[in-house]
Amino acid sequence: MKARQIKTNVYWIGAIDWDRRLFDALIPLPDGTSYNSYLVQGSHKVALIDTVDPTMTEVLMAYLENVPVIDYVIANHAEQDHAGSIPQVLEKYPDAKVVTTPKGRDLLVALLLIPEDRFITVSDGETLSLGGKTLEFIHAPWVHWPETMLTYLREDKILFPCDLFGSHLATTDLYIANEGQVYEAAKRYFAEIMMPFRTSIEKHLEKLNGYKIDIIAPSHGPMYDKASFIMEAYRNWVSGPPKNIVVLPYISMHGSTQKMVEYFVGALAGKGVTVKQFNLAATDIGKLAMALVDAATMVIGTPTVLVGPHPNIAHAAFLANALRPGLQFISIIGSYGWGGKAVEQLAGMIPNLQAEVLAPVLSKGFPTEDDFKALDSLASTIAEKHKERGFA
Ligand code: FEO
Repeated sequence: MKARQIKTNVYWIGAIDWDRRLFDALIPLPDGTSYNSYLVQGSHKVALIDTVDPTMTEVLMAYLENVPVIDYVIANHAEQDHAGSIPQVLEKYPDAKVVTTPKGRDLLVALLLIPEDRFITVSDGETLSLGGKTLEFIHAPWVHWPETMLTYLREDKILFPCDLFGSHLATTDLYIANEGQVYEAAKRYFAEIMMPFRTSIEKHLEKLNGYKIDIIAPSHGPMYDKASFIMEAYRNWVSGPPKNIVVLPYISMHGSTQKMVEYFVGALAGKGVTVKQFNLAATDIGKLAMALVDAATMVIGTPTVLVGPHPNIAHAAFLANALRPGLQFISIIGSYGWGGKAVEQLAGMIPNLQAEVLAPVLSKGFPTEDDFKALDSLASTIAEKHKERGFA
């Protein structure tokens, strides 16, 4: 593919990874992804903003075949999907310097063994003139890692935020073409990568209010030619109130927990509560993460296996604990045969979730009429609590 012009002397030179299906050996990528690198040519200097995943270094180097000089490699983020091709770029351009935050330098030295004399570190707000193109560096820790920064191209009003505002979406569209599709992909990305850092991101969004931004050019997925589209979505995801939604991840081995889940979902729906049900035997864990972005309540459905929760449930609980969604209420439903400690063990797995715990409903074997009444009661409690808090 040829370099694609964004503005005069500003180019997208990314790599589209159509076939990647897993990120960090954890996150499902149903629609692939891209690693977007950008070339900015000033009258005196040339900068490359972020590189590409090491699996696609050849794609980047092909773009650079006819680029005789690169003076600066801007490393907004040290994770390898953006920094992993820096060593090859530095090899091709022996005078090029890596421009990054002090923490970024430390990580890049440790992760990629880049010599310390190849770096220029920049402070928050520092600028670098390329000649008619001025790069401003905005420190933005925790938009994914502690070293992250954003780069703003003043003359063209383009923000290069690396992971922030990104979406795992392989597409040849330079800008978003289908808002619904990109909204979903960006929300999934937010859920999996950014949700634990909501407080930091809220501050960064406030800071960005001081910038006029015409284009947001992230390092995953298409660019935004209407910055407000993704910035408003992020504002909603980081600080919007929870919604009248129950997320219900569950597993059933012999049908008892399944019966309880079916009954409970019906009871909640009948009381006007939206339920998002995920059978963890078959669920894309990214969909579960996405549902947690704005749900008010999570109810976990699990049978008891060897005195504890089913291992798939333990995995989901561990993930939810790490993602730190803004859940307000949590409960557990499920069945057991000869006893166990599923509730106690699950409670110990989610210390980060600052949610009120509602009394669980556990049935011995197949649920009885009393168990169904208890499920009705739990559904009523949730519906009332959502109403009291004004969750719509
Ligand atoms: Fe796209 Fe945190 O790397």
